[in-house]
Amino acid sequence: MEPILKITDLRVEYRSREDADAGVKVAVNGLNLAVRRGEVFGFLGPNGAGKTTTMNVLLGFVSATGGSAELFGVNVREPIARQRIGYLPELTYYYKFLTAEELLRFYGKIFGIASAELEKRIDHVLGLVELEHARKRLIRTYSKGMQQRVGLAQALINDPDLLILDEPTSGLDPLGRMKVREIIQRLRDAGKTVFFSSHELGEVETVCDRVGILHEGRLQVEGRVSDLTARYHTNLEQLFLQIIGYRPNPPTTATCA
Ligand SMILES: Nc1ncnc2c1ncn2[C@@H]1O[C@H](COP(=O)(O)OP(=O)(O)OP(=O)(O)O)[C@@H](O)[C@H]1O
Ligand SMILES: [Mg+2]
Repeated sequence: MEPILKITDLRVEYRSREDADAGVKVAVNGLNLAVRRGEVFGFLGPNGAGKTTTMNVLLGFVSATGGSAELFGVNVREPIARQRIGYLPELTYYYKFLTAEELLRFYGKIFGIASAELEKRIDHVLGLVELEHARKRLIRTYSKGMQQRVGLAQALINDPDLLILDEPTSGLDPLGRMKVREIIQRLRDAGKTVFFSSHELGEVETVCDRVGILHEGRLQVEGRVSDLTARYHTNLEQLFLQIIGYRPNPPTTATCA
């Protein structure tokens, strides 16, 4: 099956505008990745590995220095490539003086969704993220978990085929994480494709069809969790730690003063 997200030899360099002597930071280095329709793909890697940078290339916020990226077979340099995607940014700053339904109406209008259809979509996505009870409350009165869920509702308002979610469960309590996991599973059941980054390896193991582990801008391993754990004879967490070069310190005798 043709991938709906395809990254080929992607390289991204950041240059400091203020300080020409600061040199170049290579954030993504020769990345190749393909996500097929209907897959849930977990994009893993330590802080600074290049996950957000990769997503920013897909979203057209950052230009590739080399290589290419395509969504639905269209190069991401063409804005039309993003017509059928929904996106949850790593840091969500919404208009906090709006209510959830006002925010969703605002985004829906940007997508040009007709009023009657938009009201139905607002009801549907608020139901999906379980925020119907708070739909008329100002977002600034929401807890972090509720704000994260309104972010997900925003990402879903245009009924996208591909969801790009940058750490959708960051900062959520176990119940909040489980709820986001359930939403991802429901999206998969509805035939959507989900590409998301996460530091929660347990959740990734339960929800993902495939994972990739990025380190220093390079994809180190990629595949089904069950295949990776069988191939490397270890669990996902240990594999992750091995890849980032973690070596446990030998035990020392600790003394308390
Ligand atoms: N605008 C920028 N200018 C310069 N360097 C940047 C910029 N954005 C990111 N970087 C650098 O690029 C590298 C990759 O950052 P990126 O944000 O993509 O990592 P990440 O995998 O998303 O990390 P995290 O898990 O912390 O979100 C880091 O070294 C970061 O400091
Ligand atoms: Mg990031």
